[in-house]
Amino acid sequence: MKKILILNGPNLNLLGRREPGIYGARSFEAYFEELCQQYPDVELTYFQSNHEGALIDKLHEVGFTADGVVLNAGAYTHTSIALHDAIRAITTPVIEVHISNVHQREEFRHHSCISAACRGVICGFGLDSYRLAVEALVKSEE
Ligand code: DQA
Repeated sequence: MKKILILNGPNLNLLGRREPGIYGARSFEAYFEELCQQYPDVELTYFQSNHEGALIDKLHEVGFTADGVVLNAGAYTHTSIALHDAIRAITTPVIEVHISNVHQREEFRHHSCISAACRGVICGFGLDSYRLAVEALVKSEE
């Protein structure tokens, strides 16, 4: 059974209430429940933190045993060299995801500090971005 962690960064605990025009009206908890039902053969876990260090600690914790991490680093995507280094430091593949299409938004969202360290990037498909990333990890042979 594959072990996949979904790791959400700052402000993503407010999904459903935060700028619903951009991020939708569903809470992540409700979406996660549905995702678990769609992948009964995958051990899916979820962790969210608003703190950069806590995200790094979590990557260290699972990064040598899990089969994959789906990471929405929120705004740390655009600023955090420490997250880039943490992703490079572990052996578990990490997929970067974004709910919105960051390239259609403000210029400061166009650059990602973490993409180069990640296995791949999925953005712009709403909450379905997470499922697409899980699907990619499930299909990956490594
Ligand atoms: C986001 C995009 C980021 O630019 C933003 O800071 C977020 C959410 C997304 O999922 O679309 O917090 O990662």
